[in-house]
Amino acid sequence: SAAEKGGYDYFMLKEIAEQPQAVADTLLGRLTETGEILLDEVRLSDQDLRDVDKVFIVACGTAYHAGLVAKYAIEHWTRIPCEVELASEFRYRDPVLDRSTLVVAISQSGETMDTLMALRHAKEQKARVLAICNTNGSTIPRESDAVLYTHSGPEIAVASTKAFLTQLVACYLIGLHLAQVRGVKYADEVAAVVDQLQEVPDKLRTVLAAMEPVRQLARDLSTAGTVLFIGRHVGYPVALEGALKLKELAYMHAEGFAAGELKHGPIALIDKGTPVICVVPSPAGRGMLRDKIVSNIQEVRARGARTIVIAEEGDEAVLPFADHVIYVPRTPTLLAPLVTSVPLQVFACAVADARGHDVDQPRNLAKSVTVE
Ligand code: AGP
Repeated sequence: SAAEKGGYDYFMLKEIAEQPQAVADTLLGRLTETGEILLDEVRLSDQDLRDVDKVFIVACGTAYHAGLVAKYAIEHWTRIPCEVELASEFRYRDPVLDRSTLVVAISQSGETMDTLMALRHAKEQKARVLAICNTNGSTIPRESDAVLYTHSGPEIAVASTKAFLTQLVACYLIGLHLAQVRGVKYADEVAAVVDQLQEVPDKLRTVLAAMEPVRQLARDLSTAGTVLFIGRHVGYPVALEGALKLKELAYMHAEGFAAGELKHGPIALIDKGTPVICVVPSPAGRGMLRDKIVSNIQEVRARGARTIVIAEEGDEAVLPFADHVIYVPRTPTLLAPLVTSVPLQVFACAVADARGHDVDQPRNLAKSVTVE
């Protein structure tokens, strides 16, 4: 009913709007007075965590994209090698696992069969398993050695939005926790990140208040045959997530690419008017990366693409090559997916709506996939 949807037309719109709160709630109570990060249920000792010499993240769909972002943060903060794998592929590949491997299983529902089977395989091989989950007492956290719950509240829409943002937060917290337990190499940076995370809810409010042009753009592009998404570094998983949202909601062909890969093939797809959504990193954090993607934007535009650029407020270097610019508040590079993902959620939702689809119940999909 309309009441359940809090006055919004769709649960998805309500859940997009709840993201500032969901992020704040997921951060709440996770820090001790002395600045240590707390997990909810830990059946692992600090020594177990110190012994970890490899991290595998397993998940599906949107949760997998959160894992791809996590890899950048975890490797940077902890210097532990981290691999991200689709849960559905993991156990069939005979991955190298032992007692010193930490497997992080990310799942909103906690009931996704592919992820559960990956987790069980990891446990059979004696790996330690840590779950990031939004559903208290569900199967995945019950079978894990440690749990960090995301506090996004129930997510009803099939397309994951607020759960995704809180999965990102949980991944950052786990990266910081591992860094702390193991003796922090970047102590100042860890403390700074914790502060910067606290600022994200306000930044999300700013993003959400500025979404009308994105909805307008979505209506304009709702008849496009394809939409391409490009990004670098953590912007690459954001591009993949933007494309997934558009596929699942708008039934439109969409693909995400690492911007550096364009010249190795996908640039041949660019035709006159092909929409390309470009996720640009902060010029402050990784200036070189920003410059590289600006030249990728230039390349696709020279071949006729219609470029839609998501950039940090005040970044004027993108203007000459952008047909549309969506500015988001300044955010440290590793945390940027928390803000850059939101316009892509709004975009997909508005394209689907313009195409007349039921945004909350896309065809052929279920909220929780309990078969392999
Ligand atoms: C997201 O929009 C999807 N509907 C889907 O990819 C989802 O993230 C995936 O099925 C994993 O679900 P889980 O987080 O409940 O394990």
